[in-house]
Amino acid sequence: MAARIIDGKAIAADVRAEVAAGVAAFVADGSPPPGLAVVLVGEDPASHVYVANKVRQTESVGMSSQQYILDAATTERELLDLVARLNADNRVHGILVQFPLPSHIDTARVVSAINPGKDVDGFNPLNVGRTATGMKGALTPCTPLGVMRLIHSVHDNVAGLGALVVGASNVVGRPMARLLLQEQCTVSVAHVLTTDLERRCREADILVVATGVPGLIRGQFIKPGATVIDVGITRIKSSSGTERLVGDVAFDEAIEVAGAITPVPGGVGPMTIACLLANTLSAARSSIGESDEDAHGQGTLPAMSGSVTAMQA
Ligand code: GUN
Repeated sequence: MAARIIDGKAIAADVRAEVAAGVAAFVADGSPPPGLAVVLVGEDPASHVYVANKVRQTESVGMSSQQYILDAATTERELLDLVARLNADNRVHGILVQFPLPSHIDTARVVSAINPGKDVDGFNPLNVGRTATGMKGALTPCTPLGVMRLIHSVHDNVAGLGALVVGASNVVGRPMARLLLQEQCTVSVAHVLTTDLERRCREADILVVATGVPGLIRGQFIKPGATVIDVGITRIKSSSGTERLVGDVAFDEAIEVAGAITPVPGGVGPMTIACLLANTLSAARSSIGESDEDAHGQGTLPAMSGSVTAMQA
């Protein structure tokens, strides 16, 4: 039987509706709307598209947005000065500096300079540590947060399941593994030097792939009935010149074996910005001493443990 297709577009729309309701309640309680500042340095065309989408969706849920498009020649000092101004601006609850940054700028230095309470990307070392240890108040990277929500559309409880994350980046693979471990999955991480990838994939009840290598995961890699989440998204040109987006999983093969699978596009992609909005609302609530749980008895992302307690074992 063909796998169930996990509809990331619909689930992202649910998240945006929850955020919009949370924003309305936040404003009704007398606070100014949550504000997100997005900073882009340089001319990378894909980054310009992402930033325009972030601004549009921020405004669509009733938040305010500020956009800073800086010249590729912007110095690290100038960027750090802008971050310092945004850190001090009480209309700004979330700050996102779009990657990749030009090579003359030290990305780690910029990420470390963002106020951890406004770090809606969850990349500041304090938030990385909080996410890794399951501390309350962590701002968690948006794509892994979105993937957890997709997984929970299939599994109420993932404790004890075997999960393999293919890809070990700081943006997706590593935080993904930490979130799955936090929910008591038995987690492995594979990367470019992993031997026998096929056998390891076939052991996984939950397979999350984030490598950027189109079609890396073939149908025979997949355990029958497994949940497969494809984070990869690569634009390829056919011989006729038309372009299309493809994932890291050979979808037509995988759908015959998996129990549930995300498509590309329309799977993980829409979740990232939706979770950015959720993080911005969480940051705004924290800035007035509220937690997501305080806000009308539920978190913005109730289907997952946003502030999970540390595991006992
Ligand atoms: N570039 C690609 N993905 C991301 C992301 O999640 N955050 C930021 N800041 N830049 C990105």
